[in-house]
Amino acid sequence: MKNITILISGSGTNLQRIIDCIDNGKIRNAKINQVIADRECFGLERAEKHNIPNQLIKRGKDFSENLEKAIPENTDLIVLAGFLSILKPEFCEKWSGKIINIHPALLPKFGGKGMWGHHVHNAVIEAGEKESGATVHFVTSGIDEGKVILQGKFDIDEHDTAETLAQKVHQIEYDIFPIAIDLVLNK
Ligand code: GAR
Repeated sequence: MKNITILISGSGTNLQRIIDCIDNGKIRNAKINQVIADRECFGLERAEKHNIPNQLIKRGKDFSENLEKAIPENTDLIVLAGFLSILKPEFCEKWSGKIINIHPALLPKFGGKGMWGHHVHNAVIEAGEKESGATVHFVTSGIDEGKVILQGKFDIDEHDTAETLAQKVHQIEYDIFPIAIDLVLNK
């Protein structure tokens, strides 16, 4: 059984999808050993409801040290599921090949510092892109620069707004994230 530690900052719908896919066998041979949030968020309540150990580590002084200590020894894979803090290069190096992230755009486009959530979708609309989607990738010290594991995409139509893109991207995320996690864990 492989242990997954999940880092979140928000509502945690991707966390919920991962919980459901472990239960229904789409993600094989896995258990969530810890959920960690960097701020108060609904995702923590989801973890609590499913009796998954969970912890809030507030941003600010000692955040990186406290995060480092909170990752259980037996963790096989760290999954960033809507986690908005930037991880230190030393942390990324220590866990190299064992941290993955989901990003709400088609990397290498629309990645990097400040590119998260609605900022991404606004930028995609502004740029007049013809398509968008989501990317699961390994995490390295370069923000959103690690090797791509899986992408899913859709055509943008003329009526799309940042809000409708967010919904469509989330649907793609629910498809590709469990597949990517299973791939990395059970390759
Ligand atoms: C997801 O769309 C994820 O791609 C994005 O945050 C959302 C979290 O939603 N992540 C980033 O923007 C990271 N750069 P959720 O809390 O409902 O899973």
